[in-house]
Amino acid sequence: MIPSLAEKIRSFDPTLPLEQARTIPSSWYRDVDIGEAERCTVFSRIWLAAGRADLVRQPGSFLTAEIAGAPMAVVRDETGTLRAFHNVCRHRAAPVLTEPCGRATRLRCRYHGWTYDLTGRLRGTPEFEGVANFSREDNGLAPLAVEEWGPFVWVSLDPPPCPLAEYLGPLPGRFAALDLGRLRWAGSRSFEVRCNWKVFVDNYLDGGYHVNSVHPGLAGILEYSEYRTEVAGFTSSQISPLRPAEPGGPSETVAQARGGDRAYYLWIFPNVMFNFYAGYLDTNVVLPLGPDRCRVDYEFYFEQTEGPEAQARIAHGIAVSDQIQMEDSVICEEVQRGLGSRAYETGRYSVRREGAVYAFHQLLARHLRETS
Ligand code: FES
Ligand SMILES: [Fe+2]
Repeated sequence: MIPSLAEKIRSFDPTLPLEQARTIPSSWYRDVDIGEAERCTVFSRIWLAAGRADLVRQPGSFLTAEIAGAPMAVVRDETGTLRAFHNVCRHRAAPVLTEPCGRATRLRCRYHGWTYDLTGRLRGTPEFEGVANFSREDNGLAPLAVEEWGPFVWVSLDPPPCPLAEYLGPLPGRFAALDLGRLRWAGSRSFEVRCNWKVFVDNYLDGGYHVNSVHPGLAGILEYSEYRTEVAGFTSSQISPLRPAEPGGPSETVAQARGGDRAYYLWIFPNVMFNFYAGYLDTNVVLPLGPDRCRVDYEFYFEQTEGPEAQARIAHGIAVSDQIQMEDSVICEEVQRGLGSRAYETGRYSVRREGAVYAFHQLLARHLRETS
């Protein structure tokens, strides 16, 4: 018998204490109906990072994104108000904005030329006279909740569970303490990984458990015995003291790019990560592309961005990130293949290391249960 969606969702018990809990089942990483349920819950009723806030600072600037199959646009209107819409024309569902970012004075759908102003109101409908029971007022772009915090603008497709400041829990305080506002954007990267998006998130949240075996270079600068994880609401923070690399060892090049006293790996449910070291931040947004594929969008921020020395440091910093990303991608793709084996249905959590993975699975379950 093939289990129903409700049976699959109920098969994970999010109420058990960590030491008794079992992970979400392998079907959650493979099945199309789980992915659909996630679209309607996990990726709808919460705050999602839609794009870089610095792209929409000026009146008339916009960015577009597609998150779990939902095309969206964020626009700064002429009065300076930030707005977000479904990037879907009300006529035949073509996108009204097709560039990743830019400037506009109005939003013109390229399919049949309907135009909207920057507040989303429908202004122009060529050759549409005589259509009964049609009013422009009722056919503006469908709005989304939008707020700004840190390096991102955040949107919610359905009414969010709480204001963004509450959703982010302790992270704004941490950002302020780390003085992250002084960092400047310096580059982007995107990687496709052949695994379910949750495999990539699980890997990120495992409390450093995989670092020694998967990341030999990074392992040499982390004080693993003092690596700790704090879970709070929709967020978790992994914090590790740093130690000097052994001269001539595999960590030396990593140490040149990752300095300071501590590494901070901060996560926001469901798919946003911040990796912070002194003078350096990269953000990762993990986007589902299908049951066994995801894309990870990286943005890099550095304290110094001007001049040849800074540029060399940026290039090296991004190269180190690429290496770590590649190491993570390889293991995540192997895990995805293992999740397809009939020999594996669920696993257990390390109580010492994997509390944040369980917290992620509990949040997932809480959202998915809204559908069943
Ligand atoms: S789909 Fe936009 S004008 Fe027709
Ligand atoms: Fe990793």
